[in-house]
Amino acid sequence: MSEYVSLKPSTLLNPTPVVLVSCAEKGNPENRDLVTVAWAGTVNSEPPMVSVSIRKSRYSHGLISGSGEFVVNLVDERMAKATDFCGVRSGRDTDKEKETGLKTVPAEGMETAPRVDGAPVSLSCRVRQVIELGSHDMFIGEVKAVCVRKDLLDEKNALHLEKAGLIAYSHGLYHRLGGVMGFFGWSVARPDVLKKRMEELK
Ligand SMILES: Cc1cc2nc3c(=O)[nH]c(=O)nc-3n(C[C@H](O)[C@H](O)[C@H](O)COP(=O)(O)O)c2cc1C
Repeated sequence: MSEYVSLKPSTLLNPTPVVLVSCAEKGNPENRDLVTVAWAGTVNSEPPMVSVSIRKSRYSHGLISGSGEFVVNLVDERMAKATDFCGVRSGRDTDKEKETGLKTVPAEGMETAPRVDGAPVSLSCRVRQVIELGSHDMFIGEVKAVCVRKDLLDEKNALHLEKAGLIAYSHGLYHRLGGVMGFFGWSVARPDVLKKRMEELK
């Protein structure tokens, strides 16, 4: 039997995604913000819904609460440093776009919240529910539009997210994803199917 030690209760559910959430002030979209979020999750398929948990003290919290909108932008390796910056400076006193070189543009399906240009994928979300959990408020957003960078689609319009260079976050560290080791159902795939798919995924 392996040996274990017991730690105090915590949210050591790892790795997590790390995303850039873009938002803006209703009626004044020039006042916008980018906030780094690791407490993000997929919470429903039909309708598609995702969650982001944000502390009340964040500048972005007020913008999202006021507009009822946010955009979840997936982050690739090129955006990793800028993503860290957006997680250690507040939009209250910093122009994060100017400082990082990230650029926001109007997002499909949104009246107010922009998306990050160049992000592999952006999910435009309308707030359906806010759950006050304690330290964080969880915004549950219904995904109203999905914007995918064109170079991630093949000639048949199939999405190859494995080519996006997405990153993950684990216990204070940003990680590259280390390459594909399997696919949905690979544990029971026929040997010829397994071989073909794995070849394609190389
Ligand atoms: C990797 C990383 C993940 C973070 N995840 C969260 C999160 O899930 N929820 C949250 O409220 N703050 C999170 N933060 C902190 C905020 O991004 C940070 O406080 C930011 O400066 C808030 O910006 P704002 O005041 O412009 O909203 C994270 C920071 C980093 C670097």
